Amino acid sequence: MEYKTIIVRIEEGIATLTLNRPEVLNALNDQVFNELADAASEMAADPTVRVVIITGGEKVFAAGADISQMATATAVEVMTSDKPSHRAFHLIETMPKPVIAAIAGYALGGGCELTLVADIRIAAENAQFGLPEIKLGILPGAGGTQRLPRLIGPGRAKELIFGGDFIKAEEALRIGLVNKVVPTNQLFEEAKKMAKRLCDRGAVALRLAKSAVNEGLRMDLEAGLQYEDKCFNLLFATEDQKEGMRAFLEKRPAKFQGR
Ligand code: HXC
Repeated sequence: MEYKTIIVRIEEGIATLTLNRPEVLNALNDQVFNELADAASEMAADPTVRVVIITGGEKVFAAGADISQMATATAVEVMTSDKPSHRAFHLIETMPKPVIAAIAGYALGGGCELTLVADIRIAAENAQFGLPEIKLGILPGAGGTQRLPRLIGPGRAKELIFGGDFIKAEEALRIGLVNKVVPTNQLFEEAKKMAKRLCDRGAVALRLAKSAVNEGLRMDLEAGLQYEDKCFNLLFATEDQKEGMRAFLEKRPAKFQGR
């Protein structure tokens, strides 16, 4: 597929999607969301892709949804829009492969919300996070009021959503918004290192582990435990389970085939 606002590169099982509108700090317009959605579908279906990295490059992740596109919109236009942001975020969040966000510079508004649909967030030391929508007279409308409290708890999420101020990478790490902070010039290396580690794991087990966590978060504990049990049982039908346990007993690294 041809992409204009993102760059898609696949190398050794790792797909890297790079937002590419540097002149507006990677502001996310409908075209970006549509291309992200198409790329997410393509990467989900491509058997050579094991892990996906989403990044904005070394300077900025994304300064939010494109304000120039929203400024004059009416309530009816917004209400009846097919919301490409929602489609893109849903496809990324439910992609049956691990998604790592590698974040440098600003991750604001819709940009911050995009990091929330990744499974793992790695921040560069120069990263800054924020949900400044409140300062524009709106609220985070691409999952920020729902996914952020689930990730960091409602108290801290409300402080970010109500205040609209930015926080630095170290503070994001302290409150659990990111998994790891690394020196800015090592961001891509670190993201690749983590992606490579996940490429060595069994793809079916990864797929079901991701589903167990994500689906489980939408259920009460009892239902979640039952869903986990179904996923667990199913993995005993895979060759990877036999290989993984045989390799342990034979004291050698497992070689998973993803089946
Ligand atoms: C459109 C944007 C933009 C945005 C920056 N630009 N952010 N254009 N939408 N979200 C453009 C600027 O207009 C400017 O264009 C160029 O990018 C460089 O930005 P500057 O402001 O000159 O850079 P700087 O002074 O370094 O300030 C950086 C910044 C600031 C602090 C990130 O740009 C900023 O506050 N941006 C808006 C952040 C924001 O409010 N995001 C939330 C959006 S609402 P020119 O042409 O002047 O060079 C949202 C809702 C999501 O995300 C809802 C669901 C989809």
